[in-house]
This record gives sequence, structure tokens and C-alpha cells, in this order.
Amino acid sequence: MVRYLTEENSAAAVIDRINDAECSPRFRRIMEGLIMHLHAFIREVALTQEEWEVAIDVLTRTGQKCSAERQEFILMSDTLGVSMLVDAINNRRPEGATENTVLGPFHVAGAPELPMGANISLDGVGESCLFRGRVLDIDGRPVAGAKIDVWSDNANGFYDVQQPGIQPKWNNRGIFTTGADGAYHFRGIKPTSYPVPVDGPAGEMLTAMGRHPYRPSHTHVIVTARGFQKLVTHIFVGDDPYIESDAVFGVKPSLIAPFARTDGGDTAWVCPFDFVLAPQD
Ligand code: BEZ
Ligand code: FE
Repeated sequence: MVRYLTEENSAAAVIDRINDAECSPRFRRIMEGLIMHLHAFIREVALTQEEWEVAIDVLTRTGQKCSAERQEFILMSDTLGVSMLVDAINNRRPEGATENTVLGPFHVAGAPELPMGANISLDGVGESCLFRGRVLDIDGRPVAGAKIDVWSDNANGFYDVQQPGIQPKWNNRGIFTTGADGAYHFRGIKPTSYPVPVDGPAGEMLTAMGRHPYRPSHTHVIVTARGFQKLVTHIFVGDDPYIESDAVFGVKPSLIAPFARTDGGDTAWVCPFDFVLAPQD
């Protein structure tokens, strides 16, 4: 038992106080790892008193920035790549299944359930785009009854919930249900890149590191179907200038869709993309 904490034994001194009779093995494992890595990090960088005070101030202001509409801790996690690491660990999928990516803060549950082919761009701000494809299982069979919940910004780079009173409610949002052929199609806009919120500690951190705050253009999608793992993903626009430097590290090459210009008609762009669902284990 370590009685008195020294510079050399600091992590062990704290870990020794964990009472196995009072906590679960999993909690012990997590706290042990956290304490060991935290102490090793502070020793490695030889944190000064002033730097410790800055860290406390940043964490305090991160909490103070949080509200029902804003989660600055998640934004910190996103911009430090932690959200994508947690997502990767918890969504390992078989070869061929569509990959997951970060959910982001702008999903709203209960979007309108729309007939196949409906137009989700209610304000018409953006270049029109036809999204189409199929929901398949990993053997290539169509998945019937899959719900495809989509949301995106408009071409000004804002989601409807960021501009209440300016954008119509449910702008660029909708839920579509596949039929027996697993096919889907709907109209929307080709999305545009936008910055993550920068008016808080996460924004300050990005600036201090010389990083830009932009996410490359993407449309968010959640696909759910009975018997399959929930898929939380994006469809990315490949020719976006930020495609290789997403502020939240959400891009996976398999999620870049072949957006193509049409020869005219109702829509300027077409985006073919199939979603391949992994079975529920
Ligand atoms: C988004 O794509 O909506 C998003 C993701 C992470 C942080 C901010 C926005
Ligand atoms: Fe987004």
C-alpha cells in the first residue's frame, strides 16, 4: 500500500486507493488506465503550474458552454479524434458492409416520413441532387423495410436547427422506407462544407493548433432495419477541398460517393450510393 504520494509513485498512490469491494472490475479497469495515462502524460510533458491552470480554465469553460442545444465536450472529443476512435472500436464490421462515422450534433429524431422520391430541400437553397441506390445485406440481397433517415445543411452551410425562423422546420430532413427491392431515391441538394461551431473552447483549441474548423460536404444518413446493425454514416462529396482534412476526422474513403452532373432535367446532380448492412450479431 502506497501511503504518501511522491513524483515517482504518483499513479500507483492513487490506484492503490481504489477499493475493489466497492467498485466493479470494469470501472476499476477504466480508472486504472485513466490514472496511469494521465500521470504519465503530465510527467512526460512536465506540465507547469500555469499550464495546469489553463487546462482547468478550458475544462471549466467547456462545461459552461454546454446547454440543451450545445455539447462542447462532444465537440472537443470530435476535434481530438476521440469520437471517431470510440466509433471505430464499437462498429467493427464485416468486409463489404458500409462503414460508420460520427453522428454529429444536428440529428433531430422524428423527421417526417416521406414517400419515395420526395424533395427534402424545402428552401431550395443549393444545387438539386437526386440521391439513389439500394439497401442490401452483405450477400447483396435487398433489405425491405429499411428506414433511411437523412439530414444535411443547405448550400449556405447551416442546418435548419441552426437557423430557426430563417430555414423552414425539417429543411433537408426526411425518412424513407425501402420496399421489397431495397431501393431508395429522394431529392435534396448537393451539400456544402461548413465549419464546426468555433465560438467556444474547441474553436480556440483549433485556432491555437493552427487547424481549420471545416467539415467536407456531406449528407448524414442513419439506416435501420430489423435484424441488422444500426448504420450511422455520411455520404461525402469527393471533390471537396476539405475531404482530406475533416475537422472531426469523419471521412472514410469508402463513404465518398460518385456525385455526377446530370444532362439537365429536374436535377443538377445525381448521387448513386448503396448501403450495405451488417447482420445483428
Ligand atoms: C456534423 O457533421 O454535423 C458535425 C459533426 C461533428 C461536429 C460538428 C458537426
Ligand atoms: Fe454534418
